[in-house]
Amino acid sequence: MTSEVITPAPVPAPGRADRVRELATELRGLRGALIPILHAVQEDLGYVDQTDIPVIADVLNLAVAEVHGVVTFYKDFRREPAGRTTVRICQAEACRSVGAEALAEHAKRRTGVGFGETTYDGRVTVDEVFCLGNCALGPAVQVGDKLHGRVTPARLDAILGEAR
Ligand code: FES
Repeated sequence: MTSEVITPAPVPAPGRADRVRELATELRGLRGALIPILHAVQEDLGYVDQTDIPVIADVLNLAVAEVHGVVTFYKDFRREPAGRTTVRICQAEACRSVGAEALAEHAKRRTGVGFGETTYDGRVTVDEVFCLGNCALGPAVQVGDKLHGRVTPARLDAILGEAR
């Protein structure tokens, strides 16, 4: 006899489903509404929770699997809360030509997390971004609203240190 582990369905945080439904309903008239709705949910609630997916699917009259597929396909959508500080490292061409890839590798070694992930203590999320409009001063890094240019590994260590 095989034993099957039954995982309970995730329960949304109080009020979350109502807010997601409200956002989805507001935007459902847009052409290709799913992506703007997912962005709105992420902006308003910080990330797209697993429990948001059936709510959005219901409002748009789509299959849950379809919404889930879009959320998991696009790296833009965070599926868990971000850390207290998000460090975004530009990976677009101009920054790559002056060491952004090596900087990202350095960040990974220092934090133990890759793009889109959060350190075990929940303090820092590291994300990639494609152009911060600071191309002449690459590699560029953004922490909160603050933009840093010509970021070396040593400067990144200082930035990460402050973030923690
Ligand atoms: S390419 Fe990095 S800021 Fe524009």
